[in-house]
Amino acid sequence: MDSLSIPYAICLLSLLTICVCANGNSNLFNVLSYGASGDGTTDDSSAFTKAWNDTCKATSNPTLVIPQGKQFLVRQMIFAGPCKSSTIQVQLSGTILAPDGPDQWKATDLSTWLAFQGVNGLRIYGKGTMDGRGKGWWDRSCKYHPGLQGCITLAPTSLRFQKCDDIKMTDISFHNSPQTHVLLLGTQNVDLGFLNIQSPGTSPNTDGIHLLFATNVSIHDSNIADGDDCISIGDKTFNINITDINCGPGHGISIGSLGSAGESAQVENINVMRVNFRETTNGARIKTWQTGRGIVQGVTFSNLNFTAVANPIIIYQYYCYRPNACKQTKTGVHIKDVTYSGLIGTSKTEVAINLNCSNVVPCTGITLDNIRLASATREIGQLTSSCNNAHGINRGTIQPESCL
Ligand SMILES: *[C@@H]1O[C@H](CO)[C@@H](O)[C@H](O)[C@H]1NC(C)=O
Ligand SMILES: *[C@@H]1O[C@H](CO)[C@@H](O)[C@H](O)[C@H]1NC(C)=O
Ligand SMILES: *[C@@H]1O[C@H](CO)[C@@H](O)[C@H](O)[C@H]1NC(C)=O
Ligand SMILES: *[C@@H]1O[C@H](CO)[C@@H](O)[C@H](O)[C@H]1NC(C)=O
Ligand SMILES: *[C@@H]1O[C@H](CO)[C@@H](O)[C@H](O)[C@H]1NC(C)=O
Repeated sequence: MDSLSIPYAICLLSLLTICVCANGNSNLFNVLSYGASGDGTTDDSSAFTKAWNDTCKATSNPTLVIPQGKQFLVRQMIFAGPCKSSTIQVQLSGTILAPDGPDQWKATDLSTWLAFQGVNGLRIYGKGTMDGRGKGWWDRSCKYHPGLQGCITLAPTSLRFQKCDDIKMTDISFHNSPQTHVLLLGTQNVDLGFLNIQSPGTSPNTDGIHLLFATNVSIHDSNIADGDDCISIGDKTFNINITDINCGPGHGISIGSLGSAGESAQVENINVMRVNFRETTNGARIKTWQTGRGIVQGVTFSNLNFTAVANPIIIYQYYCYRPNACKQTKTGVHIKDVTYSGLIGTSKTEVAINLNCSNVVPCTGITLDNIRLASATREIGQLTSSCNNAHGINRGTIQPESCL
């Protein structure tokens, strides 16, 4: 090579590199490239909006990148679909901060902080955090401050998936949501794993994950600590697997409440397996209002371990806290084919197995199979079981002695 062609070759090479790099990166959409500051105080919402706009329009497997080591203040936002690509990745490695409490919340809609709507094939991963900064909301909640002027009943859910199909979210942390941390609404084929949901046990209505109109959902390998249900399963939910969860503090894993406005409930094929409950106010719970109709069927709670849990096994069909709302009802939600298998640990309440079914519509096909529960403290005497209009069978050892 002569002396002239060397620089020429280098030039050509670097041009080539730029081309290759640009091409290789053309489906990465980093919020920093759209002007996000990531300093935790500047409002980065518009950078997120623009980055999402391009991500959603890109044709082949694009990735929205929220890089690590930065904190992004983002206001209420909807990541709306449909998108061009059949899969969309979100690499959430940094922290996203919500507006700090109700005084900083400028949007009129209080229901949700961030939402994915009509987006299919989402893959969210990256060890990042969504920090809901809920304290300012909790401090004014009507639940814990009744009578406080301007007290708050509705505070934002941190992350909502609405009308999404084929969702996978792994390795994400959720801290201090104003209310529910994650909501699946009208969404199907979902895999949520290795999540870490953390809020104080005293925070009001901070459910970990709530499901409503959801089908084919697996929630697994996650730690959930909050001030309400670790996972709550609402109406029109089908084929739900919940496995390998640590729950507590919190109110346990709950189906319901269902039937509050007299509607016909339908919840089917729910499997809850290998869950450790620690110091929760309930364990495996099904709760319905007296006004409800419809059915809950095909539920299995297996291999659960309770540590100092109040109401480890409970069906409660008298859930009605509005005065005079549930008088003289001749209905009830039919609870059918529920199996409790391999449940061990300690109870903080004397009635450790409490099957308090509707007087109008009996529970049928209940199976108690190998249950060994002991008192969590000396103050509680011998544990008991209680059945009201519950019908089914026993298998193996049942402690306390079964009422079925
Ligand atoms: C989204 O992209 C389109 C086309 O590039 C543009 O017209 C529109 O203004 C963008 N919207 C936002 C919010 O950036
Ligand atoms: C649920 O999963 C089953 C089995 O994979 C599938 O046949 C069905 O279509 C799914 N339901 C929905 C609503 O996607
Ligand atoms: C739930 O688990 C069963 C048994 O392992 C499996 O056949 C089914 O596909 C799972 N469903 C979901 C939605 O993960
Ligand atoms: C149940 O949980 C307790 C408390 O964490 C633990 O000591 C015990 O080994 C667990 N039992 C099983 C069978 O995993
Ligand atoms: C069953 O529910 C009724 C109505 O709330 C309540 O009065 C009763 O004490 C409950 N029974 C048990 C054993 O908890």
